[in-house]
Amino acid sequence: MQVLEFPYFGLVGVVRENAATYIVLDMICTHQGCQVEVRGNGEGWRCPCHGAEFEKKGCILSGDATEPIYMLENTFDQARGIIEVRLVRKANAGC
Ligand code: FES
Repeated sequence: MQVLEFPYFGLVGVVRENAATYIVLDMICTHQGCQVEVRGNGEGWRCPCHGAEFEKKGCILSGDATEPIYMLENTFDQARGIIEVRLVRKANAGC
C-alpha cells in the first residue's frame, strides 16, 4: 500500500492486488469528502472526519460512509514495472 500525489488531482492510494494487478483508489471519503488516511500499519483506510473505516481495497468496514472509496482505472505494464493511472473516478465494483 502506497500513497502518491498527482498534481491537480491529489492523493491516490495504490494497493497491489496480485503480481499482475494493482488497485488505485481516490483517497476521498464517500461520506462527506474528507481525505482518508492509511489505517494502522496499512490494514486499510480511515477517515479522520467522522471515523469511517475501509479495508485495503476501499470497501466499507464501519462508519457513516455508504459507498466504497472510488477507484481509478489503471493498467500495469509488468515488463516495465509501470502503472498507468487514468485520473477518472469510477464506482468500486470490487466490494
Ligand atoms: S467524511 Fe469521512 S466519515 Fe464523514
